[in-house]
Amino acid sequence: MLVAPFASQLPFVEETLHSSYQALQWGKNIFAIAHKTLSARLLNTVFPTEERTQPLSPELQAWLKERYEALLQQDWQDAAAGFYPATLLFDAPWEEFLRFYPLLLLDLPQMWQRARSRQFQEFAHNVRLEDYPQYYRQNFHYQTDGYLSDTSANLYDIQVELLFGGTADAMRRRVIAPIAQQVVAHPPTPPLRILDVACGTGRTLKQLRYAFPGAVLFGLDLSPAYLRKANALLATQTGALPQLIQGNAESLPYVDSYFSAITCVFLFHELPAPVRQNVIHECARVLQPGGIFVICDSIQSLDSPEQRPMMENFANLFHEPFYRNYIEDDLNLRLEKAGLVVKEVQHHFMSKYWVAVKPS
Ligand SMILES: C[S@@+](CC[C@H](N)C(=O)[O-])C[C@H]1O[C@@H](n2cnc3c(N)ncnc32)[C@H](O)[C@@H]1O
Repeated sequence: MLVAPFASQLPFVEETLHSSYQALQWGKNIFAIAHKTLSARLLNTVFPTEERTQPLSPELQAWLKERYEALLQQDWQDAAAGFYPATLLFDAPWEEFLRFYPLLLLDLPQMWQRARSRQFQEFAHNVRLEDYPQYYRQNFHYQTDGYLSDTSANLYDIQVELLFGGTADAMRRRVIAPIAQQVVAHPPTPPLRILDVACGTGRTLKQLRYAFPGAVLFGLDLSPAYLRKANALLATQTGALPQLIQGNAESLPYVDSYFSAITCVFLFHELPAPVRQNVIHECARVLQPGGIFVICDSIQSLDSPEQRPMMENFANLFHEPFYRNYIEDDLNLRLEKAGLVVKEVQHHFMSKYWVAVKPS
């Protein structure tokens, strides 16, 4: 169900809200730039000879700025159109950031050391690695404990926000409008069931919960620590809690044709190619005929080779073993192979979106 649009009801309030939203986003962006500058200086002091990134051309920087502004505009417009409440635009875990940012700074030297010595399989001793697929037993981003500790779960959202200049949720929210439009065009038999695959710390579920207050929500992830974090986040909202479950997206623990909509945000670039196909097949299996599957992940070099230096920088700085393969991978073909029909492909800032439906 959509919320009442607020556009043009009170022009002054609307203008003030819009300016506040832009100011907030610029504030986040400036903080992220300050953080990146500070950490680059520290890194150069500790390891002066390392040079792992290439500078971005002025054209690429202009492209980034344009895409950043277009994302904020789209985010604003979708709230104004009633796809989600405007309050979501201002939602940010400030208290968490204040609490955990110092920890993140303290953790940086360990991450650099890991990156320097190419160590990417360091975990706490009490983690039962055999419970997880081989491709998952890695310190993605060189982050301490990979995805397998509460410390990692506490630092993850801040790291993503800093990486994307404060736009992570704005990019996640782009999965909402396609679902709302599909639900209007092809109303599912109630209840509206939405699954977020690889839900991580629950940020996408939180956005979906505001956008579809009548929906029954589900979240699945391999990491128990990230699910605990998601549970804590979602418990702060009123209403029925999403049903969170630990599981592998390659074998979803749900019956066939169960969900009206499935989302999957920032997972595919962290999977080997055959696993990407397995996950897509599983999502197609548990999706109802007429249901919609929305993937949000990194932009790809197959669309825009001129942005490749930026993608190379990402792959070089962070441990992302499957990213170079992902940026060349044709997910349209994979979705079609699983019997889905790709309705639309969108791009917003640093992300690409595949909107696919299961034929009725
Ligand atoms: C980059 S994070 C994205 C998390 C979240 N969707 C977000 O928007 O921040 C990748 C997530 O995928 C999860 N993951 C990786 N492989 C998985 C698999 N095979 N099955 C389920 N979850 C998986 C990780 O535990 C992690 O939470």
